[in-house]
Amino acid sequence: MAEASTATVNPETPVGDIVAADPAAARVFEALQIDFCCGGKSPLAEACESRGLDPATVMAMIAAADRLPTTVSDEHDLSNASIEEICEHIVASHHDRAREDLERIAALAEKVERAHGASDPRLHDVRARFTDLRHEMESHMDTEESVVFPACQQVSSGAGAELEPLLVAHEGEHAEIGAELVAIRDLADGYDENRAFCNTHRVLLHSLREFEADTHQHVHEENNVLFPLVREAAAA
Ligand SMILES: [Fe+2]
Ligand SMILES: [Fe+2]
Repeated sequence: MAEASTATVNPETPVGDIVAADPAAARVFEALQIDFCCGGKSPLAEACESRGLDPATVMAMIAAADRLPTTVSDEHDLSNASIEEICEHIVASHHDRAREDLERIAALAEKVERAHGASDPRLHDVRARFTDLRHEMESHMDTEESVVFPACQQVSSGAGAELEPLLVAHEGEHAEIGAELVAIRDLADGYDENRAFCNTHRVLLHSLREFEADTHQHVHEENNVLFPLVREAAAA
């Protein structure tokens, strides 16, 4: 399990560990577009450098975020949760929501493409890429629920050799999902709602932004909270 608290964060602390110990940090990283899920093993200084940010300022922002009232309802502290509790939380809080969002956003993307694709051909690419992402994520979550999470919940000491390829494969799929989200964000002008053609387009951009944030949190909880705990149990 990751070990970090606001008091112990320094420029060398991996960003995934920072969020694992302090869920409020996810809001800061999301706003600054610092990758804390697939890139969770990067030290804070390195992650800041890739975004042209000063680590000391970012550390101050994280400390300030801790003092703000929480506005994100799905911010969870999983630092003391068991493997079973983490799996149940991910399915209930992220998989169920993602399945609904994927269906709803796909319909919005099709509608906006039909109405405005002739004015902005990138809307065809947004729809096509989101369709691919939807199929990839639905299949990924199905496999997690039928194979990966049951294996994680039955982990016993010495099981590392059989589990490791499964975890590595899923981390690879997470990286592909993360790259797709970056591509969709770029095609949609960073989800700038001021550039929307109509209200449906505005809802699409807003929904994509929220979906991206929830997927980052979802992947973070698997890559940086669940999988390290499973690896620790397998090696014990
Ligand atoms: Fe998942
Ligand atoms: Fe996953």
